[in-house]
Amino acid sequence: MEFPIVRSRRLRSGETIRRMVRETRLSPDEFIYPLFAVEGASVKNEISSMPGVYQMSVDNIVEECREVEKLGIPAVILFGIPDHKDGEGSGAYASDGIVQKAVRAVKENTGLYVITDVCLCEYTDHGHCGVIIDGDVDNDSTLELLQKEAVSHAEAGADMVAPSDMMDGRVMAIREALDENGFDGVPIMSYAVKYASGYYGPFREAAESTPAFGDRRSYQMDPANRREALKEAAQDINEGADIIMVKPALAYMDIIREVKDSCDLPVAAYNVSGEYSMIKAASRLGWIDEDRVVMETLTGMKRAGADMIITYFAKQAAMLL
Ligand code: PBG
Ligand code: ZN
Repeated sequence: MEFPIVRSRRLRSGETIRRMVRETRLSPDEFIYPLFAVEGASVKNEISSMPGVYQMSVDNIVEECREVEKLGIPAVILFGIPDHKDGEGSGAYASDGIVQKAVRAVKENTGLYVITDVCLCEYTDHGHCGVIIDGDVDNDSTLELLQKEAVSHAEAGADMVAPSDMMDGRVMAIREALDENGFDGVPIMSYAVKYASGYYGPFREAAESTPAFGDRRSYQMDPANRREALKEAAQDINEGADIIMVKPALAYMDIIREVKDSCDLPVAAYNVSGEYSMIKAASRLGWIDEDRVVMETLTGMKRAGADMIITYFAKQAAMLL
């Protein structure tokens, strides 16, 4: 059948009928809000490339979390920026480390579900995601530190851990360490499909984690690869991941869809810092309608297959919904 029998515009004629035939709906239920914790009190430093996003001391993190909870957002993901960095990233697994303190405070004062980013780059003086041996990130010795970090986060009360380092075998290593320490109920959200991306630029300002030398291409994925994404996802599922993440999101919508179709785990998409900054910048220049583009972007990620979206727009989008 075709024109004039078929007239697609009949179902677009007003907001009510558009609402009735809408295929994808966003809800705050699927948002995860990232937060950056720093030492001190009453600290709230805006990230210059990410308007509306701050490094915050634990007191302000708790305040922010109360607001997040009121908006109906169920979860936050915490990143820690320690005062002191060293070669082994020891701040990552210190029981009084910055993330550990933030987790305890948020769990004590709110009902939020708390996820922690498990990686070493915020804690190492060289800014790489693992231990450096002979000028390169050493996979297997890094695993031991990631195990300590994940257990330490769980001990502080983290509900879920999210390894973002891209070392081989880390999901299994972390699963074993959590189980041995009585945390068999703590799920792992794996940054399984994480590309070496220019879109992380503003985050590295927020987390003070720009590598002092080289780049992350020897452990993060080549943006040109699609089949490798399915291999990475399958590998992490075998190792015991509970949720698979694709990161970044915007330039990788095809990957979100393929990962979603290839497995039966929940899929998370990380709407990363550079994706946030681009929209904020264009909006400041008066070139786009910010709220509209934010909702369109998040809807696109959900339509692509994301069951949950980690996004700096979580509060803004929840208010718009
Ligand atoms: C740490 C980590 C990064 C991001 C999340 N965890 C940066 C990186 O790998 O360089 C990026 C998040 C963002 O850009 O919003 N491994
Ligand atoms: Zn890292």
